[in-house]
Amino acid sequence: MKEEYEKNGFHVLRGVLTNQDVERLSTPIREAFRRGDYDTFHRGPAYPAPGIHSMGPRVLDKHPEIAEVSLAHPAILAAVEDLFGEPAVLAQYWSIMRPPGAGVSDKPFVNGSGAHYDYKPWRCVGSNINWMFAVIPFIDYTETVGPLTVAPGSHRKSMVLPSDGRVHQVDAAKVPVPNQIELVDPLLKKGDVVLMNGFLWHEPRPNYGNSDRCGLYMKFHAKSSPPACGPTIYPSSVHDFLSEDTKHVIPYHRGDGRFAAIHEKPVDCIEEAQILIEDLDAKILLIRNNAGKWQLPKCVASEDEGASILDACNVMGSVINHFNARFGLNLPWLSWLTDIVGKTGENDEEESRCRVYGHRIPSSAIILTHAEEDYIWMSSMDLQKADKSGIIFKRPEIAKWIDMWQNQTDEDGNPVTRSYGLPTTHVQYFRYNGNGNKEGTCRVGVFNENGLPIA
Ligand SMILES: [Fe+2]
Repeated sequence: MKEEYEKNGFHVLRGVLTNQDVERLSTPIREAFRRGDYDTFHRGPAYPAPGIHSMGPRVLDKHPEIAEVSLAHPAILAAVEDLFGEPAVLAQYWSIMRPPGAGVSDKPFVNGSGAHYDYKPWRCVGSNINWMFAVIPFIDYTETVGPLTVAPGSHRKSMVLPSDGRVHQVDAAKVPVPNQIELVDPLLKKGDVVLMNGFLWHEPRPNYGNSDRCGLYMKFHAKSSPPACGPTIYPSSVHDFLSEDTKHVIPYHRGDGRFAAIHEKPVDCIEEAQILIEDLDAKILLIRNNAGKWQLPKCVASEDEGASILDACNVMGSVINHFNARFGLNLPWLSWLTDIVGKTGENDEEESRCRVYGHRIPSSAIILTHAEEDYIWMSSMDLQKADKSGIIFKRPEIAKWIDMWQNQTDEDGNPVTRSYGLPTTHVQYFRYNGNGNKEGTCRVGVFNENGLPIA
């Protein structure tokens, strides 16, 4: 399996789910689509109108039991973790519903015109450099209903570059014109699960049949490859439902109903952000708080207004705007370090979440043109000394994050590969992952003098 997966970029687990398993999984999902309880509902026309209707993790809140036949299915999880060679974390849990007529237009469909891949540094679900899809079709993906085709070996056209000591750039392959793409149909049947490398080009074909083309599209990332935009937040009910040996798949969750979902607007799952901004001499930017102590810069965070369900939980746009307005500081990118979870108020049910990001400016300490607060750049040594006189707020926390950032490790000290995370609206600067490009690569992680991606 491993050799074939590495060569072709995909592997099909045949008949891994019984008919009964697929029914158990698909029944609550299909019912939710019928009720209008899905994330693209307000973008109408609603199911069963032709179109691409989709649903994020919300179904897991009331139906955590379907985890057993999807994200925590023993054979699926074993295969995913075997291919990673390490524990997996769930990034995306996305059901797609394409009713009859979905993707069909007056003109005949050109095979290859929908080819794309999903490494997307502007999304929580796609800003990892080591991840894979696990797709579960709820019906046979026949020629009539629309196969999910794949371009064998295409994942090898993208390359993750060595780290600069903090983050990895990516030379992301440009998807060319249809006649330059060779797609094959892996003949997915109900009960099969296809595992696909995150850089693999693939294409969903139109539904010419008379049944709903529906399936579950999960993404898992290797634990050592965190999402640059930070993790998607799941309902705690599914974390609580999981057995002790599978709980690690959903480490980031909330029990107060604030998980990744779009109602009329995106649900806010992250209230605050803190940033560890480092200069080229490894000095960290601190600001003076109301009590006169030095702390990491902090701000209120919010979702981007127009975010879709797959954009959910990426609050970088609000953070970058804040730093621009408050300090005149242009942050072209961020990379997630950790989330701090708190309980607010007396009611234990209320939760709060602060997302912590790292960033390194490409110069020595700079003068901030219009900082509204006192600020200072300090090295780790400066911090240690200053802490003795009690003027650093939460020094152990800051020291830990500096250590994680500079040594490229997670909270437990294990090595990680961080990469570039961008606001959801930065999608406008990139064309590499959709079709019709001249062949070549696009380097993710280079920016012009205005801090905008050079793509
Ligand atoms: Fe895709």
